[in-house]
Amino acid sequence: MTEVGIDKIGFFTPNFYLDMNDLAEDRNEDPNKYLIGIGQNKQSVIPSSQDAVAMAANAASKIIDETNRNKIDLIIFGTESGVDNSKSAAIYLQNLLNLNKNARAFEIKQACYGATAGLQMAKEYIKSHPDKKALVIGSDIARYGLKTAGEVTQGGGAIAMLISSNPNIMSISDDSAFHSEDIMDFWRPLKNNVALVDGHYSNDIYEQFFMKTIHDYSDKFNYDLNNLKAITFHLPYTKMGLKALHKILPEFSQTKQNELLTEFESSRVYNKEVGNLYTGSLYLSLLSLIDNSKNLKPGDQVGIFSYGSGAQGEFYIGTLKDGFKDLKRSNSNLKLIEERTRLNVDEYEKVFLDGDLPDGNFEITPNKKARFNFIGVKDLKRQYK
Ligand code: HMG
Repeated sequence: MTEVGIDKIGFFTPNFYLDMNDLAEDRNEDPNKYLIGIGQNKQSVIPSSQDAVAMAANAASKIIDETNRNKIDLIIFGTESGVDNSKSAAIYLQNLLNLNKNARAFEIKQACYGATAGLQMAKEYIKSHPDKKALVIGSDIARYGLKTAGEVTQGGGAIAMLISSNPNIMSISDDSAFHSEDIMDFWRPLKNNVALVDGHYSNDIYEQFFMKTIHDYSDKFNYDLNNLKAITFHLPYTKMGLKALHKILPEFSQTKQNELLTEFESSRVYNKEVGNLYTGSLYLSLLSLIDNSKNLKPGDQVGIFSYGSGAQGEFYIGTLKDGFKDLKRSNSNLKLIEERTRLNVDEYEKVFLDGDLPDGNFEITPNKKARFNFIGVKDLKRQYK
């Protein structure tokens, strides 16, 4: 049977960040609450020129080349930061990157779960069309509002994944355990540009969905969880994944617990610096794991937990392939994160408030550090450059 999975991963986050020490000082909090209690060092600050489409184009342009461009005939854009109520972000992206027009291109939404929904659909498609490729995007801006409890869990960015047969990075299990239920833990009513959240409740539901889906996977498919070398999580803030990991750890030997905790640290290196990017967070954590782990090798199995508020959970297994390490990719990811500019709290607040865009037509100054930008609205049509 043909193996299908992730062949390439491209990541983008804008070039500004807020240091959590600065935020803690301004908000009169103990810095350790943010650094340890929440598990975040920094968060990316997203200028108006980087909407979900522009960030996706910046991420995807890193993995599109002349060998795969015309083979992509499925483009799935997972986002909860959509730019239009009707037209999908995938069509904007297809045009910006000059992708194959003989393609299915559409947007998908279920909070942070959207990219996983796209990935699973793409997997099924490539299984029956192994000579084709699919592009799956997770691109979002996490916004809760100034001086809210959720503020420390903001961030943003995009992940682009090329899904193919005989993938270079990771094959994906045929089986998967999933669970959905109507839960009001986090939502964003139409016209709100910040999320509403019942924070502690959302943490509890996340943990419940994790325990349910990982156990369902092991029970239904007779899978021994001791085969896992690592577990990667959707990371709205990195302590969340650690809290969920601690729920399952007592089921393992001490040696296995240490192994899983060590790999967890590798899986949160990037997320600690970027913050939440909603749909992309789980796959940024996977990228962080494969770029930073010193122990993993081809053939190792990784448990993958996706969560989207509202709520949807899914657990599946990835098997690392021979080409999962790529020094050029990891150096470029590190450079992107390290070369961002630090904003003070006043500067961050200004960029945040600029995110409340006016109605009608307007212009936005492009960010010179990004290849693709949203540059405003003309004749009530979004403009990209
Ligand atoms: P809070 O009430 O400000 O924080 O909200 P807290 O009082 O619960 O403290 C947080 C942690 O810091 C606690 O640790 C404290 O003990 C610790 P925990 O009990 O959780 O292990 N702490 C300290 N540690 C060290 N030194 C100190 C110190 N002080 C306190 N001095 C909350 C925190 C996460 C609820 C808030 O930021 C929030 O509402 N965030 C947004 C919601 C969220 O991220 N939920 C996650 C699950 S839902 C999800 O993942 C989906 C999502 O991505 C959306 C989607 O699907 O689209 C959000």
